[in-house]
Amino acid sequence: MELQREKKYIRLDQVSQQEIDSLISKVNSCLWRQTFHIQPVSGLLNDPNGFCYYNGEYHLFYQWHPLGPVHGLKYWYHTKSADLVNWKNVGIAIQPDNYFDSHGAYSGSAVEHEGKIYLLYTGNTRDEHFERHPHQCIAIMDAEGKITKLEKSVLDNVPAGYTEHFRDPKVWREGDRFYAVIGAQRTDKTGTVCLLSSPNLLDWKFEGELDTELDSFGFMWECPDYFEIENQGVLIFSPQGLKPEGDLYQNIYQAGYVMGKKIDLERKELIHGNFIELDRGFDFYAPHTMQDPKGRRLLVGWMGLPEIEYPTDINGWAHCLTIPRELSVDDGKLIQKPVPELQSLRKKKVEAADILSNEKKVVEGFSGDTYELVCEFEQGNALEYGIEFRADGNEKTVITYDAIQEKVILDRTQSGQVIGSTFGTVRKCHIDGDVYKFHLFVDSSSVEIFVNDGEEVFSSRIFPDGKSQEIRFFATGGSASFKAVKWDYKTAQGMNKEVC
Ligand code: FRU
Repeated sequence: MELQREKKYIRLDQVSQQEIDSLISKVNSCLWRQTFHIQPVSGLLNDPNGFCYYNGEYHLFYQWHPLGPVHGLKYWYHTKSADLVNWKNVGIAIQPDNYFDSHGAYSGSAVEHEGKIYLLYTGNTRDEHFERHPHQCIAIMDAEGKITKLEKSVLDNVPAGYTEHFRDPKVWREGDRFYAVIGAQRTDKTGTVCLLSSPNLLDWKFEGELDTELDSFGFMWECPDYFEIENQGVLIFSPQGLKPEGDLYQNIYQAGYVMGKKIDLERKELIHGNFIELDRGFDFYAPHTMQDPKGRRLLVGWMGLPEIEYPTDINGWAHCLTIPRELSVDDGKLIQKPVPELQSLRKKKVEAADILSNEKKVVEGFSGDTYELVCEFEQGNALEYGIEFRADGNEKTVITYDAIQEKVILDRTQSGQVIGSTFGTVRKCHIDGDVYKFHLFVDSSSVEIFVNDGEEVFSSRIFPDGKSQEIRFFATGGSASFKAVKWDYKTAQGMNKEVC
């Protein structure tokens, strides 16, 4: 056990270049490396952090353990992009090498102030009894991209009433003050969110707990995010410990939001509606947002989950981020759309339109392993219709609309290598009214499916054989017509190749 712990906390500068090179060549030999999703050069990626726009570029950081596909010592890794599509690996942003972050530079966020970017994050430390002690820390990025930590952390203690699970501050500016929501666990082992404030980003004050209507909702809330959109207040968070309820809360941990009135900072109160899951797929956690200069609220999530093994582990890496999505509000609900910038990856286009009468059809030109596919359906009298993709023989991933259940169903039972099957291999979600569009983004080992222009999204990793490239359109129990457009995708520039 001791040895394992030590190994987990090994630092990048404690291993030889040869070991790193051999890990990276193992990673690069993996069949499931992505082509347009941010992924680590080696090791494990988890939460997106510090998403911001600064000096004409988007900056996106992520939690990174470089030395293998485990939740070991975490660094912040830095990527940047002019267009949200082609990313450049900048390198390590925050090293876990101070007294306040010795056991991991954990999740946090970014805000611009006086021409610089302030990164507010949680420093994880462990004492000699391996007890956790979180610190809240600041690192400052200047116009040259140089990142410097403050010498001391800005909050050293967990306030009374909370356990050592107190982390992941998300900061924003409100008038002439800065506020942050931070994930917390009460001493009675229920999850919640607390509020911090600061006049200058250097001196921070614990304001107290944010009063929500979810008093007992899981044992810990990770990665909270507060923002306002279309005059609504939205609190996103990732609660742990919810029990499955029908089609809801099927993954090991959840990620979702509550929406309602704008936050009342004086009363520390949020009046809101029900908790709604942001994604209906198998692999989605710890989403993180920012507002860009165009005024768009953009969201990126971790396309993975804690405590689940993935088939890429044997190749020395795990996980990627989702494509960026733009948020809007419709009828009390967040709508998520892929950012249009992704269209710059489109190459060859094929189109088809046909009627399916209780049959399955393959269409000339419709195949591949990295593409965007928009398929519009009209139901006719079919009981079910949908698409099988990444298919070959019996291997397939299937998205179906089931008109009897009025549900969209994603089935990865036969997708290839198995992932997290103790949590089931099917995800379902009820849709009110017609299901008229499936919009798929397929990469070497993932799919993101936007239903009806972003009413729901299913994000999932899949690990099919390289040969599984067929696309099959089907309708059962009657007829349905469809119109489909597919674009093969270019490999996005930069994001995978450079070594730290
Ligand atoms: C969520 C999380 C955060 C923490 C980070 C550590 O996935 O557990 O709460 O800051 O990951 O990597």
